[in-house]
Amino acid sequence: MTSPAPQNAKPLHACVPVDLGERSYDILIGPGLLQSAGEHIAPRLNQPRTLVVTDSTVANIHLETLLNSLRASGIETSSYVVPAGEASKSFTELEKLCEAILTARLERADSIIALGGGVIGDLTGFAAAIVRRGMKFIQIPTTLLSQVDSSVGGKTGINTTMGKNLVGAFHQPSLVLADIACLDTLPARDFLSGYAEVVKYGLINDPDFFSWLDLNLDLLKAGDIDARAEAVRRSCLAKANIVAQDETEQGLRALLNLGHTFGHALEAETGYSARLTHGEGVAIGMALAMAFSAEEGLCPSQESERATAHLARAGLKTQIKQIEGPALDPDRLLTAMFQDKKVQSGRLTFILSRGIGQAYIARDIAPEKLKAFLTTQV
Ligand code: NAD
Ligand code: GLY
Repeated sequence: MTSPAPQNAKPLHACVPVDLGERSYDILIGPGLLQSAGEHIAPRLNQPRTLVVTDSTVANIHLETLLNSLRASGIETSSYVVPAGEASKSFTELEKLCEAILTARLERADSIIALGGGVIGDLTGFAAAIVRRGMKFIQIPTTLLSQVDSSVGGKTGINTTMGKNLVGAFHQPSLVLADIACLDTLPARDFLSGYAEVVKYGLINDPDFFSWLDLNLDLLKAGDIDARAEAVRRSCLAKANIVAQDETEQGLRALLNLGHTFGHALEAETGYSARLTHGEGVAIGMALAMAFSAEEGLCPSQESERATAHLARAGLKTQIKQIEGPALDPDRLLTAMFQDKKVQSGRLTFILSRGIGQAYIARDIAPEKLKAFLTTQV
């Protein structure tokens, strides 16, 4: 199967630069980029040899288009397919992928291409960070979540039994190609998961973007290519801006984790299963972070309600109780929250809000307050 031809194809909608000195790179955004990938990638390679890593679902839909484009530009390439799903962000799949890169005899100056969602980007980026002590890699994100978040900023890694993304490295890609037409083949549930991360940028520091999303939600859900490209562009711009100021999360970058401390705990407690995707956890987490802020008197309740109403109108869950299956336990959720990478000296750093577009980093949140809040939510 080959990728569907982009409707309303324009050569390129946008280029968002990520300004990181010698590790700077571009994010190209627009429909049809998969078909022209070779032209964009060839000039950026040290050597015209790559390995494309993808998952079993994306391989059936988009791999052939990419391989044809790379080969047409004179790039020698092979591919490696991992099973689709969050479970592939594991030591087992990492080991197999590292072996595959070495078996393909890729040299340090060759490049690895991640074609897929956040799972493929995180796993492949981590392998690229450690094989031969660091190889060049390119992100071709195919989910909304990966186009607006995970392919940008260089966070790579895998999950362990102790929690999510606990083993990994910062390793920046050398190019990101976000082909908006790939979103046409994405199941609605995965589109919505990514949409949660789009809303996140409005809630963090861009109330105008939040209002734009409120106006354009129906177009975005209906698949309007221009609206989707604009949502991806503004999201990437917001992320690139934060990452350029704080690449390794010494402070400011933690804002990008709005909703994630609750969200990661919910994902862990639902076993990283089909009960809850990452983006769904983030949507509930953002609603909870805003509700907790309102309950603590930090944020007007109308602002918290407006944010939650938008997420719900998009079709996202906003309450723990809406997660299907057995009820979750507040004590276990709290324990899972303390596995967060933002815990310092046993104290939880949390992203709270003073209103839409006014997220801030709150240190030293009392666990008993969180416990009392969670008890009312489950
Ligand atoms: P995913 O990679 O599992 O993709 C979701 C599903 O969509 C998969 O089944 C995949 O096969 C399928 N798919 C992908 N592209 C498709 C397409 N174009 N058409 C049809 N199906 C397609 O999940 P995701 O939501 O993209 O990413 C979630 C992961 O990203 C999580 O592991 C999360 O921790 C990680 N993440 C990382 C960062 C970061 O900064 N590195 C940021 C946010 C999230
Ligand atoms: N998704 C959070 C970050 O990239 O920092």
